[in-house]
Amino acid sequence: RDEPLVLGIETSCDETGVGIVRGHTLLANTIASSVEEHARFGGVVPEVASRAHLEAMAPTVERALQQAGLSFTDIDAVAVTAGPGLAGALLVGVAAAKAYALGLGVPLYGVNHLAAHVAVDQLEHGALPKPCIAMLVSGGHSSLLLVPDVAREVVSLGSTVDDAAGEAFDKVARVLGLPFPGGPHIDRVAREGSGTAVSFPRGKLDDGTLDFSFSGLKTAVARWVEAREKAGETIHVPDVAASFQEAVVDVLTRKALQACKQYGVQDLLIGGGVAANSRLRALAQERCEAAGVRVRVPRPGLCTDNGAMVAALGSDLVAAGVTASLLDIPADSSMP
Ligand code: KG4
Ligand code: ZN
Repeated sequence: RDEPLVLGIETSCDETGVGIVRGHTLLANTIASSVEEHARFGGVVPEVASRAHLEAMAPTVERALQQAGLSFTDIDAVAVTAGPGLAGALLVGVAAAKAYALGLGVPLYGVNHLAAHVAVDQLEHGALPKPCIAMLVSGGHSSLLLVPDVAREVVSLGSTVDDAAGEAFDKVARVLGLPFPGGPHIDRVAREGSGTAVSFPRGKLDDGTLDFSFSGLKTAVARWVEAREKAGETIHVPDVAASFQEAVVDVLTRKALQACKQYGVQDLLIGGGVAANSRLRALAQERCEAAGVRVRVPRPGLCTDNGAMVAALGSDLVAAGVTASLLDIPADSSMP
């Protein structure tokens, strides 16, 4: 009970997320999403997202306090995503967090969105092994990280050289006539299809790096569909979805295990929106078990963007004795 109560705010993309934790105990996690407002554009429109954050911020914080049965004066620290993300969207969260911290007279922590995706797993599975390898796959990033200590040191080992994994899911979904965001739809439709129906390319699989490339795969799927349509053939969407998905998760799991091997690390964490993918979760379990690597994947609701992840990392920063830079946190859209 001595551990401080941390309020976390996430606004880097299209979700206004608010979480409350005490240590690694999750007390509240509320979210307001503007995803439906972006659907007709087939992608997130930054200005629309910023405006939605502005409207959702205070009600989402209040709902979180209600969910936890707490009041503002119980909060001991505020943490906020300072980057990377959409500049205007980040600014709304950072401005709100500054206001709450100043109003309550508590310290404010600006945190890195990717590190927060790593830290969140502790709310479900307890303290992270040190070190661990983390693979973050979402709509905005695909990264392999070496994590000696999530509060103090996170090292980038590789990332996508073009599209993010989730971006590829979203673009291929569009080609297949599935709604935005496409990842969950491909996941669902693929269950009715075969992952070996079409052999799609696996970018950078054997190039020895820990980088990813998904734009060639996306183009290959689009070309394949286009050619069949031109020939007047009907496409079996579940087979194409499953085969595309198999190509992505094959590369992801192999590269993640390559990183574990290269750095002699036996613990792998997978996070970000694409970690909600059922095939990725199953294949990662299977291959990690065979390789003697322990794998941790948070439940889907903690994989996609949320406020609890920011609160979780804030809690680690407090515990590590990292000094809060009160009111001196710039939103940094291109934070590494
Ligand atoms: O982490 P997130 O919520 O936001 C970003 O920081 O980008 O990730 C969203 C991405 C989207 O591209 C979405 O299509 C993808 O995660 N996604 C999935 C699944 N659920 C969400 N991709 C594949 N399978 C899923 N089940
Ligand atoms: Zn994210």
